[in-house]
Amino acid sequence: MPTLLPPTSPGVLRRTALAAVVMGAGWARAARPGVLLRFSHVVAPDTPKGRMVVHFQSLVHQRSAGRIRVEVHPDSRLWGDDEEIEALRLGAVEMLAPSLSKFGLAGVPEFEVFDLPFLFDDLAQVRRVTQGRVGRELLARLARQQMLGLGYLDNGFKHMSARRPLRRVADFAGLRVRVQASQVLSAQMRALGAQPVVLPFGDTERALAQGVVDASENPLSNFLTQGLARWQPHVTLTRHGYLGYAVVSHPRFWASLSGTDQTLVAGALEHALARGNQLAAELDQQAQATLRGMPGITVHEPTAAERMALREATQPVYQAVQRGPGAALLQAMQATT
Ligand code: SIN
Repeated sequence: MPTLLPPTSPGVLRRTALAAVVMGAGWARAARPGVLLRFSHVVAPDTPKGRMVVHFQSLVHQRSAGRIRVEVHPDSRLWGDDEEIEALRLGAVEMLAPSLSKFGLAGVPEFEVFDLPFLFDDLAQVRRVTQGRVGRELLARLARQQMLGLGYLDNGFKHMSARRPLRRVADFAGLRVRVQASQVLSAQMRALGAQPVVLPFGDTERALAQGVVDASENPLSNFLTQGLARWQPHVTLTRHGYLGYAVVSHPRFWASLSGTDQTLVAGALEHALARGNQLAAELDQQAQATLRGMPGITVHEPTAAERMALREATQPVYQAVQRGPGAALLQAMQATT
């Protein structure tokens, strides 16, 4: 298999920098005038998460008259998704919005229930879970792993892309598919006869270019803005899974803010998340229109029977979750939706 990362890749350099971060540096309130809040994420600025974070930044600047400064670091430029949660714990960043699929590796595997294939029919169902008791309890569980959960954001539904259409279960046979580091996502690909390859988001395009993987699953805004269309001319609108985010901070950073600043930051975030959730659906529609008009790209619409067959093939993943620690949560989610 080709080497994916050259020894001096940004990821390697960042990991070296992370190793050098001094525990807890910079969060004492008296240490500097004003407040600096670094918000790092892995996607492009023109995505639901990218736009939400910039909106949050401008609200915080406006409401604090510049006293609280928000630095936005998109596109894995500060931290990639294999190190961002560790960076938060070490005080090298103050806010993140990892996809829900990435909290399993960080020690809160309950979030992987969101990865179950064909769990949600639409975003209204997702909203009933995230804005209700289940969503609140899940955010509270992040405290176990030194994270303060502040809210949820949608990206949207994921679709399959590859060098060939992926409409039927047989189309997945032997395909190496890049997935996020979630046991449920890996199990889903295995159930379809494909081979899951776990890679950081920022490495996906290079992995496709080098032939390390053959396919990927993404919401359309991520597919477009990461340039994945260059390597995957067939997009099949499978809508087989949900991709959303939880915005997190570190409890120690949060405690270093005055009560007034906590209220200001939480208020700005609530506003930005509501706007971001509206935008997510709009950007998804726009991305779909762009892809349909893109030379060299074919968009496939699976039939209801094809989607049903994909759904049936992935049922063993549900059975595995029902036998494990996520069983009660899955039941609560299904009751809510
Ligand atoms: C993201 O949207 O933050 C990245 C999702 C992925 O890793 O596929």
